[in-house]
Amino acid sequence: MTRIKTPSPINASSRRPPLVHLLCAATLFSGFVFLIQSSLFTGGGRVGNVSREDVEILNGFQSSVQQCVANRGLGLTAHIVDHCTLVMKFPEGTNSTWYNAQFKIYEPLEYSYDVCEAILLWEQYRNMTTVLTREYLDVRPDGWLEYAAKRIAQLGADKCYNRSLCEENLNMTLPGRAPFHPRQFRTCAVVGNSGDLLKTEFGEEIDSHDAVIRDNEAPVNDKYAKHVGLKRDFRLVVRGAAQNMVAILNGSSDEVLIIKSLTHRDFNTMIKQIPNPVYLFQGIVLRRGAKGTGMKSVELALSMCDIVDIYGFTVDPGYTEWTRYFSEPKKGHNPLQGRAYYQLLECLGVIRIHSPMRSQRKQDWSDVPSREMIHTAHSAALRLKKDQADDLGQFSSCKVWGNVDPSTPLPVSGSPDMSKIRKNSNYNKWEILPVESLRKEARDQYKSMEGVSLYKMDGNKLDDLVCIRHSESSV
Ligand SMILES: *[C@@H]1O[C@H](CO)[C@@H](O)[C@H](O)[C@H]1NC(C)=O
Ligand SMILES: *[C@@H]1O[C@H](CO)[C@@H](O)[C@H](O)[C@H]1NC(C)=O
Ligand SMILES: *[C@@H]1O[C@H](CO)[C@@H](O)[C@H](O)[C@H]1NC(C)=O
Ligand SMILES: *[C@@H]1O[C@H](CO)[C@@H](O)[C@H](O)[C@H]1NC(C)=O
Ligand SMILES: *[C@@H]1O[C@H](CO)[C@@H](O)[C@H](O)[C@H]1NC(C)=O
Repeated sequence: MTRIKTPSPINASSRRPPLVHLLCAATLFSGFVFLIQSSLFTGGGRVGNVSREDVEILNGFQSSVQQCVANRGLGLTAHIVDHCTLVMKFPEGTNSTWYNAQFKIYEPLEYSYDVCEAILLWEQYRNMTTVLTREYLDVRPDGWLEYAAKRIAQLGADKCYNRSLCEENLNMTLPGRAPFHPRQFRTCAVVGNSGDLLKTEFGEEIDSHDAVIRDNEAPVNDKYAKHVGLKRDFRLVVRGAAQNMVAILNGSSDEVLIIKSLTHRDFNTMIKQIPNPVYLFQGIVLRRGAKGTGMKSVELALSMCDIVDIYGFTVDPGYTEWTRYFSEPKKGHNPLQGRAYYQLLECLGVIRIHSPMRSQRKQDWSDVPSREMIHTAHSAALRLKKDQADDLGQFSSCKVWGNVDPSTPLPVSGSPDMSKIRKNSNYNKWEILPVESLRKEARDQYKSMEGVSLYKMDGNKLDDLVCIRHSESSV
């Protein structure tokens, strides 16, 4: 978990004047708690100039985020609690339509976030690999024995006691090294499945992106072209949808399929029939930020694109049902929580939101904090989080290191008997694409990362990365 605190409803205060004393006491007390917290946060005792400066930087950043939410939030407002904590509030009287039957509550209208954690997490994604690879399994401690087993449904054992059995299950979906690189694309469109897409004609705009990422069984055809476009590059699917991959990929031999959770031995028969690459997603589970495949698509996009535009996420106020552009409404989940979180992400410079209520607005992002400002805030958040004695370089979050000699050829995904079906597609171009042929920004990134690929371990921590160095000959 990213320690992004949601949802945490804050009780509306109904205080009467005699309580003023109490309030003062409470204010003093929370000031006191705040001091304790901030000294804990800075690693204890270091309340010197440096951290005060960082607190200032973050306070300034919070103000920019607040202004951005005021401009773009369609009624949402941001309330600064301290240099890291921000509460997003929906206007009073907002209808909370989603009922949590388990806890017998409606969705709250307020959400509290740790912006420092959020900025550290999402900036980290810009340098990350989010596809499962062979080198990752090789380097991660117990990668083959324990972790690989977790990615195969119905293995019949809790661990890979028989490694070749596990390889047989996985190697259809297992590239040797990262097939996609940070900053590989300049612009990416992430297209959700919301019925809102039918209210706009974003098709051409979506297709003008360098890469388009879609979701589950979303149809792409002439019928919906003006609303959702026709370009197909990536598709993130849950296991249930993956059962259908032949039909889903029909008509597009290049669309890369990325399965969110587990592969299943039965999938391999299907994979052998299609020319497309099929991979497994390797990222984290943001349980509380926002739900659904949409969030995973944002993670995937951020790991390879500079600019991430999202379409078809239900993020406008006032809807009452969860619709899809190609089918009947289905049961929805947490619309307000999602909306608040996506708005925060826009104002942290992570995504840009496109929706019916924003379609008339001219494409002006000047009120979103700039890359420079985000970079400065990121550094401040990092210094506050880590003890200053720590190395704060770009590899300070690496927990496990591995070396791979880039001149040793690793097998590409698939199996030898697939060469015929894949002969006429470019399925393995990604895996054998030399770094030299990437766009300049990606090459520069590769150089400044010294040829190191970063992967998340299990998820929730910021500093448990698996880092794999591709020795200097390739840099
Ligand atoms: C909230 O929902 C109720 C019942 O569905 C409706 O009568 C009311 O007009 C809604 N209020 C707003 C502000 O949308
Ligand atoms: C990402 O990589 C760039 C280029 O190497 C580096 O400057 C930056 O500090 C890295 N950011 C994070 C959060 O690791
Ligand atoms: C996949 O694994 C099986 C079993 O270990 C092996 O025979 C086959 O050569 C592997 N294929 C690739 C492409 O690695
Ligand atoms: C391990 O799995 C392979 C591939 O399924 C199989 O051929 C072999 O007999 C298994 N080995 C053992 C010891 O079970
Ligand atoms: C693929 O699409 C074509 C038309 O675009 C259709 O005739 C065919 O039945 C489809 N195949 C599958 C497996 O869905």
